[in-house]
Amino acid sequence: MKILEVKDLCKTYIVNKRQNNVLKNVNFSIEEGEMVAVMGPSGSGKSTLLYTVSGMDAITSGEAAFCGKNIAQMGQKELADLRLNDMGFIFQQMYMLKNLTVQDNIILPAVQSGSQESRKEILERGQELMRKLGIIEIADNDINEVSGGQLQRACICRSMINNPKMIFADEPTGALNRASSGEVMEELAKLNAEGTTIMMVTHDVKVAARCTRVMYIVDGNIKGEYTLGRCESNSQIRERERALNNWLMEMGW
Ligand SMILES: Nc1ncnc2c1ncn2[C@@H]1O[C@H](COP(=O)(O)OP(=O)(O)OP(=O)(O)O)[C@@H](O)[C@H]1O
Ligand SMILES: [Mg+2]
Repeated sequence: MKILEVKDLCKTYIVNKRQNNVLKNVNFSIEEGEMVAVMGPSGSGKSTLLYTVSGMDAITSGEAAFCGKNIAQMGQKELADLRLNDMGFIFQQMYMLKNLTVQDNIILPAVQSGSQESRKEILERGQELMRKLGIIEIADNDINEVSGGQLQRACICRSMINNPKMIFADEPTGALNRASSGEVMEELAKLNAEGTTIMMVTHDVKVAARCTRVMYIVDGNIKGEYTLGRCESNSQIRERERALNNWLMEMGW
């Protein structure tokens, strides 16, 4: 089933009366269970693509259907509910709240979702996620008392707390060193293997090589797509990276 289907998507920003056509008739779709990387030069529109197809930013024209429903036609309330309940977000500029603990930041979207769940049930789910991501020992730390890698893993926990169908991530490993980046990728790959669809922007070939497909964006358009398929074992990583690198060179990377 197609979880996301984008047709003739355009996004125009107007800054100082100057029109900037950032996305120009973008067409693509993502099947349930895929893990798609979006790559391309700086300023090509990768973040803008992620924001518009996830309803974070308005679509200028065209369609983006999430589970068959066009988000371009949804009202603010419907969109907010969709984002809260069916989508997860890992965006670097979406900071955690400074005066809350790691745990409280993680469970916040569940508390906000207005479900019938008790706080105890929500906490149990949050703690299960923190154990899975290896940050249970910092649950009670203030959010500014953790490392970059731990913060990023906390972001993943928060993005997962309402069991989203799909996660949108903008450079989820961008601020991390090689080791933490590998760990975070490992966790995202696990979540994907368990059924969560993922769309992520990345500049890192090592990160993209773990995805099932790579879309390459240039100047607001998809210039090419490369299907890698599921990464079944770590022994395939090198070969996948080599193949992806070759393709990226063809794309002008
Ligand atoms: N909120 C905004 N208002 C006006 N223009 C914007 C806004 N966000 C992005 N742009 C412009 O849209 C274009 C694409 O930006 P975008 O952030 O999508 O690029 P990107 O591919 O994510 O780049 P990077 O790899 O550097 O993150 C740029 O020209 C940028 O200046
Ligand atoms: Mg960006």
